[in-house]
Amino acid sequence: MLQTAKSNYHNEAVLLGFSDLKRLKSERPLIFDRGQGIFIFDETGKDYIEAVSCFYCVSLGFSDGDLVEAATRQLRSLPMYSSAIHRTVPAVMELSERLAALAPVKNPRIYFATTGSEANDYLIKFMWYGNGFAGEPQRRKMLSRKSSYHGSTIATAALGGGSELHESFGIPMGISLQVSHPSWPNAALPGEDEDAFTSRLADELEKVILDAGPQTVGAMIAEPVSVSSGMFAPPDSYFPKITTVLRKYGIQLFIDEVVTGFGRSGRMWASELMGLEPDCVTCAKGIAGAYMPIAGIIMGEEFNRRLDLGNEAKGWFAHGGTHHAHAVSAAVAVEVLNIFERRDILGHVQRVIPHWNRMLDSFLDHPLVVGTRKFGLLGAIEVAAPGEARAGSASSLKVGGLSKAIYEAGLETGVIVRPLAGCLVLSPPLIITESEIDELGRRLRSACDRVLADMSSSRRAEFAEAR
Ligand SMILES: Cc1ncc(COP(=O)(O)O)c(C=O)c1O
Repeated sequence: MLQTAKSNYHNEAVLLGFSDLKRLKSERPLIFDRGQGIFIFDETGKDYIEAVSCFYCVSLGFSDGDLVEAATRQLRSLPMYSSAIHRTVPAVMELSERLAALAPVKNPRIYFATTGSEANDYLIKFMWYGNGFAGEPQRRKMLSRKSSYHGSTIATAALGGGSELHESFGIPMGISLQVSHPSWPNAALPGEDEDAFTSRLADELEKVILDAGPQTVGAMIAEPVSVSSGMFAPPDSYFPKITTVLRKYGIQLFIDEVVTGFGRSGRMWASELMGLEPDCVTCAKGIAGAYMPIAGIIMGEEFNRRLDLGNEAKGWFAHGGTHHAHAVSAAVAVEVLNIFERRDILGHVQRVIPHWNRMLDSFLDHPLVVGTRKFGLLGAIEVAAPGEARAGSASSLKVGGLSKAIYEAGLETGVIVRPLAGCLVLSPPLIITESEIDELGRRLRSACDRVLADMSSSRRAEFAEAR
């Protein structure tokens, strides 16, 4: 029997990700049972602004009637048929064609997986396959940036930064080579300008490649702007310089647009906005507004040529999955593309970005705020308490201190933000209006005020002096 809201669930039976298992056993988690637009409602009826679109994913807001309708239509006509063994459904054919026309990769071929983790994981698997048949079986290693996040599978956890993802799970690190994240300007050396900073990072990349043996490195994976690393938009010269190094050694560039794709930057892809030239791109989250799980691996010409070599040798491509390119997910993703056109979502995002930026900057006078970072309809508010050093870069794991305190105060004032070490990341549904941005700002300021008020008066005085 379904339990009604507020009934006493048996907490010990649930294991939630990225949670304290001990706390879960003794304390009821926050349970949401309704959403509308940018708002989410918990089981007591309290509303919260979802300022991170859940996990950066509910890009068109909650309970969008057109998306629910598209899912329902597909559920009624054909709820499920696996896309494999030379069989598929119309929604997958339509989605492939329309996404290929929009993709930031020339003449792409697209494989649909279920999650962003799977997309990145399979991309590595496909690379190993293609490189093997293209006479480069030793090109298996993956470059990534420290403190990045590309997923939770074994291979993608190895790419992401942080010992929490590696040591405690015994994740094999054999394939992973990590370089510094372009956390400009916080990670700059004293006196270093943008050009010197990006040159140093390009030199570091080259050294890592040479130490590993260039012929053993397959690709580098990077987000255009990494939310998990604290949302530092790289200086303009960063990607051109690292792309030059990669090309020099025949290493491919994979761009992870799991968060930044589908309008977050104000363009369909951040790659497009930033002029990147990826060999392959992965996307997920916003592709179906996160109403259904689906992810895309968008592969470029050279990558596809290599896959075809494997196919010629073996007679088929031996990879698939029951729920890959799920019919309902694909139907919802097609409707997302329709909505982007019908409601001019990109135009809306571009129109509200200036107001969004003003709201972020309005926090600069708050005693707990030391800076803001902005990129499209993303933002990070950098926070520091007295005596705390400004974070050189951010990490999404094991967040404590001030950002966690503000996150928790936000739950009281009715706004959900993503606390990272040293900052709060915001990524609201793309449909947010200017008045909703103002309301978000009010609720978040009130959370910051509560945390400040809770600090001892001596600590506040010390802080004021430090300013
Ligand atoms: C940049 C990036 N890549 C990949 C993933 C993994 O996606 P998923 O959680 O759908 O597996 C995430 C998840 O947050 C992400 O932020």
